Amino acid sequence: MTLSGKVSKTKRDQDQFVRHTETFLSQEQIKLARDDLDYWGRDWTRSFEVAPLAIAFPTSTEQVVELVQLANAEGYRLVPSGGRTGLSGGCVASNHEVVVSFDRMNRILGFNSVDRLVLCQAGVVTAQLQQFAVEQGLFYPVDFASSGSSQIGGNIATNAGGIRVIRYGLTRDWVAGLKVVTGNGDVVVANQGLIKNATGYDLRHLFIGSEGTLGLIVEAEMQLRAPPEPHRVMVVCVTSLNDLLSILQCFQHSLQLSAFEFFSDFAMSKVLNHRGLDRPFSTVTKYYALLEYDESDADVATQAFSECVKNGWIVDGVLSHSTLQSERLWELRDGITESIAADSPYKNDISVRISEVPGFLDDVGSVVEKHYPDLEVCWFGHIGDGNLHLNILKPPDLEISEFQDRCRAINPLLFELIQKRGGSISAEHGVGLLKRDYLRFSRSKGEIERMKAIKDAFDPNGIMNPGKIFAPNGDESA
Ligand code: MLT
Ligand code: ZN
Repeated sequence: MTLSGKVSKTKRDQDQFVRHTETFLSQEQIKLARDDLDYWGRDWTRSFEVAPLAIAFPTSTEQVVELVQLANAEGYRLVPSGGRTGLSGGCVASNHEVVVSFDRMNRILGFNSVDRLVLCQAGVVTAQLQQFAVEQGLFYPVDFASSGSSQIGGNIATNAGGIRVIRYGLTRDWVAGLKVVTGNGDVVVANQGLIKNATGYDLRHLFIGSEGTLGLIVEAEMQLRAPPEPHRVMVVCVTSLNDLLSILQCFQHSLQLSAFEFFSDFAMSKVLNHRGLDRPFSTVTKYYALLEYDESDADVATQAFSECVKNGWIVDGVLSHSTLQSERLWELRDGITESIAADSPYKNDISVRISEVPGFLDDVGSVVEKHYPDLEVCWFGHIGDGNLHLNILKPPDLEISEFQDRCRAINPLLFELIQKRGGSISAEHGVGLLKRDYLRFSRSKGEIERMKAIKDAFDPNGIMNPGKIFAPNGDESA
């Protein structure tokens, strides 16, 4: 078929979609322009082709139901889209799908101060919920570098983690109820803000982390809590990855940390260059850890710091004395993703149990040295919960496809190490398109079969985010 033939077929399909939706969506609720398709058809990954048919912007649950019913009747495939900050291609539309954007379902619908529950539409931005909580004198604790754009629906669909998991848990722990339009067009209300509800399967937890493959989350009741004390932050200089765990244990023995993050000197240098910041200390070591704790624990933290110095685990450090200083230190960690974005990083988001971290770091270190000797590797992550981000950076003179092929060739080696230690090939970014061919390294054949059976039950026609989590040809369990 000629290019013009393809273009006119797409145009015909788009015209048909507009006709099919004209009874329930206005013209302003559909975007078809090339720039818009590119923008809403992708997430923060840049390695996948983007080719959606159309972008739809429903404003109500009823319109979402209409879209799902239409998709079943006419064979459209739907890709949910939140803040598009995902890093695994979970909301990439590369195959003429209709993207369902929640940008216009972004209202907070209600708040109950006794239950401390906020009813959010799926498109509420994380920072909007955090700010709403502050205005009520409360706190929403799940936080990430992408809080300014990521949406609650997307956070739930990926069970997003972030920087304070060691104290406050994952998104899952703050979802008290969900309203979901399933792949067959039913509206399911899963738990209704109840703390105790022992009435069989808790479907809420099936939808959390399902990456839009079972249905579209339209509303969520999110739990808030009392605000924490002001935090203090310490960044410490560390020469060996293995010492990180000793430091973690030493601090956790005497106080409750709210974050224990690590980054390499290379990662910090990238942030300093990118943001034009000065080094916070003159000592240069291979690694740094950022620790966050309550202000009232400042003295105990200083004692733990001295003990770590005495044991040779920490060689230097700097600590904040104000909220502003804490924020400046957090920049060193929060700025990493954006500072390496121009290097087209190949991202690995992997986890093992905390007790496995030292051995696992050694294993991964050997693979990196052996297979990436000429490539720059940017290490960082949430070491306090066993989650490491291993980013391989593309050299400027290497073609992107060649670079990705090289990284993909190493994946099985890395993932076998993870499998041996009972870890996960995707700790918090989801499977999406990026990891679907490797699912077998973290899930058994039986588990994958059962997951597919669950998908069939909620989405019998396979219209919900097709090609995500499971490879279309079933190779993920090969
Ligand atoms: C982070 O920890 O900053 C996020 O997971 C983003 C990333 O891995 O780049
Ligand atoms: Zn992360």
